[in-house]
Amino acid sequence: MAIDCGALFENCDDLAARTPSPLAAGMEGSAILAIAGQVNARIASGVNVANFTVGDFKPGVFAIPEKLTEYISEELAAGHTNYPPAVGTPELRSAVRRLYERELGLVYPEGCVQIGSGARPPIYSAFRVLIEPGDLMVYSVPSWNNNYYAYLNQARVEVIVAKPEDGFMPTAEALAPFLREARVLCLNSPLNPCGTTIKKELLADICDAIVDENKRRAAVGHRPLILLYDQVYWQLTFGEHEHFTPVELNPEMAKYTVFIDAISKCWAGTGLRVGWGVMPPWMRGRVGPLVGHMGAWAARPEQQATARLLDEPEVVAPWMDQFKQDVQDRLTILRDGLWAMRDEGLPVDALDAQGAIYLSARFDLIGKTAPNGKLLETDEDVRQLLLTEADVAIVPFTAFGYPAGSGWVRFSVGAVSVDDAKGAIERLRALLIRLG
Ligand SMILES: Cc1ncc(COP(=O)(O)O)c(C=O)c1O
Repeated sequence: MAIDCGALFENCDDLAARTPSPLAAGMEGSAILAIAGQVNARIASGVNVANFTVGDFKPGVFAIPEKLTEYISEELAAGHTNYPPAVGTPELRSAVRRLYERELGLVYPEGCVQIGSGARPPIYSAFRVLIEPGDLMVYSVPSWNNNYYAYLNQARVEVIVAKPEDGFMPTAEALAPFLREARVLCLNSPLNPCGTTIKKELLADICDAIVDENKRRAAVGHRPLILLYDQVYWQLTFGEHEHFTPVELNPEMAKYTVFIDAISKCWAGTGLRVGWGVMPPWMRGRVGPLVGHMGAWAARPEQQATARLLDEPEVVAPWMDQFKQDVQDRLTILRDGLWAMRDEGLPVDALDAQGAIYLSARFDLIGKTAPNGKLLETDEDVRQLLLTEADVAIVPFTAFGYPAGSGWVRFSVGAVSVDDAKGAIERLRALLIRLG
């Protein structure tokens, strides 16, 4: 007779409350995914929502490079179905080194590349290897998921509230007071959620400060300050906005930088789960076992296929040109539409899109009254208003740790067509005019 486990789990509130560790009990799921869940339910109920929520791609809108599909099928058919090495396959690790040499001018020796199932395992493992409970982690907001990683590693945090006039990047002055004590500084460029890039001069100043601080620490035998440089969007920069690395601006930074990278965004392959960290070999040696114990390696056929395509830049280039153009088309429609509304005197603004798949926009609506008579008091009220009255789904910066009431939100364009973007702008304009 089958055992009904569901029935056994009923009335187990006390057991459920006593089971998780205190750390697990305080763990929260992604605020962005919670919003996306609500939006998806609305879409499933038949409403035609322009979904700018998750930092993901809708495969029907943005497909991965065709060759990648082909190579994965070939690798699978060739029987590459056994465990890959925990550190990643030698082919992919070497291909990543060649990519960094060819595209970024950085020659890393063997032993510096850790493959993972996307960028997250290398991020989590790097923090785990670097941070003792109570160590100081410094990052700015808005930013993606640093709060969760800080919590999981029981880090102390210093959170810098970045400003729109700085492209929501932290300034060197704002960081300076915390560098003496910090264990890890986190930077991300192009930035999720803002779609901005760090300026060369700013990154150079920050790197110089890190190198100086680490000279001081070396003299007294203290643990170094490490920069976690998340560049998962690095190939997606627009116009004059270039991507820079800490190591090219100050070569000494090779000793103190953990690069985070993946095919998730730059090849629209979020669901393939292939990412990597590039770091000094002594750190990589610690990160490897952690990724191994979690079993957070990428699937072998996908690793092998990625390795092949990374070595074929001429095959990827036309796909990449089109991909970037498609992303930019959508961002430009949104930016121009929002700027036109602003110029009409409507309470909205936007930053120019410099990279990634995001646009920062501001809806200055708190204090206004919604068509249903409700006073708009919070960012969440504004989000609900845009969703229910304009069928436009966005994520407020509060979900990225930004202070409440700013009105700033993220538009992510990976799941929308050009027509979706145009329609959204029309509906937003109609709503803002109606609000008066
Ligand atoms: C800045 C940044 N880093 C890392 C990731 C995680 O990437 P992956 O899906 O490869 O784990 C994301 C995903 O949204 C991101 O925006």
